[in-house]
Amino acid sequence: MSALLELHEVDAFYGAAHILHRLSLRVEAGERVALIGRNGVGKTTVVNTILGLAQMRHGKVSIGGKAIARPRPYIAAQQGVVVVPQGRRIIANLTVEENLLLGAATGQGKNSKGNKEPWNVPEIYKLFPILKERAHTPGTALSGGQQQMLAVGRALMSNPSLILLDEPTEGLAPVIVDQLADIFNLVADQGTALLLIEQNLSLIARVSHRYLAMSKGAVVAEGVVDASPDGMQALATHIAV
Ligand SMILES: Nc1ncnc2c1ncn2[C@@H]1O[C@H](COP(=O)(O)OP(=O)(O)OP(=O)(O)O)[C@@H](O)[C@H]1O
Ligand SMILES: [Mg+2]
Repeated sequence: MSALLELHEVDAFYGAAHILHRLSLRVEAGERVALIGRNGVGKTTVVNTILGLAQMRHGKVSIGGKAIARPRPYIAAQQGVVVVPQGRRIIANLTVEENLLLGAATGQGKNSKGNKEPWNVPEIYKLFPILKERAHTPGTALSGGQQQMLAVGRALMSNPSLILLDEPTEGLAPVIVDQLADIFNLVADQGTALLLIEQNLSLIARVSHRYLAMSKGAVVAEGVVDASPDGMQALATHIAV
């Protein structure tokens, strides 16, 4: 069966800067995969390559078994792959509700499994009641944690098969991190695959089943996420800066 997302021997660049070196990875339907690695190894560049924001000069990106000749953000979204970017990027001039509706406009309108109704605004408000309270305030008037909830809600509104989460808990209070972990698990339980870029070990252990570890622009190790002290130590060696 073809993978939901596959990168095969990808070289990617920003201008002349060569960042990804024959990077390969696969995410299957419904999987919960953590992508880990030290600062600057190229994790965000993996996301940017899928979106066409870094230039791929060798290799292949495929979604649902279909090679994407020239990656673009709207192409990924149409194929069911959506990104919650590092640093969130809420649109300042739009209200909370308008930000959510923007997410719906980018998607394919159906999720991969077809066993669930598509996400809509009332359902997102059930997940994140605070967003309902603040529906008509500008997105940027929210706290950092609320902005991250909005970014996740906006991604869900496109009814993706796979969500790429780029350091979604960076800088957030532990209580918000706990809340987001519950939401990620709920979303994954409903059949949406997750690729979670994270440095927070306990979050990785709570959410992911498998990990891919990067070094110097390539995937250099992978395995099953094991929450025992030894398992956590093995993950930490790939993360510690
Ligand atoms: N727009 C850009 N132009 C040139 N180089 C860049 C650009 N963005 C990132 N880089 C460089 O590419 C390398 C990989 O960066 P990337 O952001 O992918 O790392 P990362 O693993 O996501 O790091 P972090 O954990 O800090 O988010 C770094 O050396 C970075 O300085
Ligand atoms: Mg990054």
